[in-house]
Amino acid sequence: MLYGVFSDVHSNLEALSAVLEFFGEADVEAYVCCGDLVGYGGDPNECLDLVRALPNLSIISGNHDLAAVGRLELDWFNQYARAAVMWTQARLRPENRLYLESLSARLDAEKFTLAHGTPRNPPEEYLLSPGQFRENAPLVRTWPLFVGHSHMPLLFRFAQGSADKVETYFLADREEILPRTPEGASGPVALNPGSVGQPRDQDRRAACALYDSTRGTFRVFRLPYDVSGAQAKIRAAGLPEYLALRLDYGQ
Ligand SMILES: [Fe+2]
Repeated sequence: MLYGVFSDVHSNLEALSAVLEFFGEADVEAYVCCGDLVGYGGDPNECLDLVRALPNLSIISGNHDLAAVGRLELDWFNQYARAAVMWTQARLRPENRLYLESLSARLDAEKFTLAHGTPRNPPEEYLLSPGQFRENAPLVRTWPLFVGHSHMPLLFRFAQGSADKVETYFLADREEILPRTPEGASGPVALNPGSVGQPRDQDRRAACALYDSTRGTFRVFRLPYDVSGAQAKIRAAGLPEYLALRLDYGQ
């Protein structure tokens, strides 16, 4: 099965359109979304409409999705994120609000696990260190674990033959990673496809990934998109200028 894996769209319609076009050309058979559909950008409803229409979609909520429907305290957010959450709250169409309310923060599927941040604290903890991977691993029943939240394309896994030493990789554009064990099963591995709508690794291109569950490969792809179009929407909405500027630099 070929999965299109994506996360942290953040209401960036221009970036999401580029990613979905790429997934279409790759003939993906199913979709995995690791949360944060809304927040920061100017097109929350348009992005929700596109994602809701995807077939064979496994999806969870992120911290911005929860805040947009009043399920996470705004104190948690910095001033820019808070402004965008409040702007989004006021504009979500009823059907899109209901959809966000229907999502769980963690999904234990038959062939993988989804958590926005980490399995032990899905909406809030960033999976960024080997120690966090080690501590969260016992909470995962089915590997691979797909995460988002950090907006960085990353891989964590135990070193071969070790149940303690953790390897961490930054996943470069088109680099093919084999998360399987030599026996062919998916071993403990956490995979982050990066962010569609607000990359934070100094590469402004949209990030997404293809996961081939038959071959056991995971590849991140970086896609150019209409950044100035997305910035114009943020400015027209009266959202903080910083949210537009950061898209230029990928941070
Ligand atoms: Fe996010």
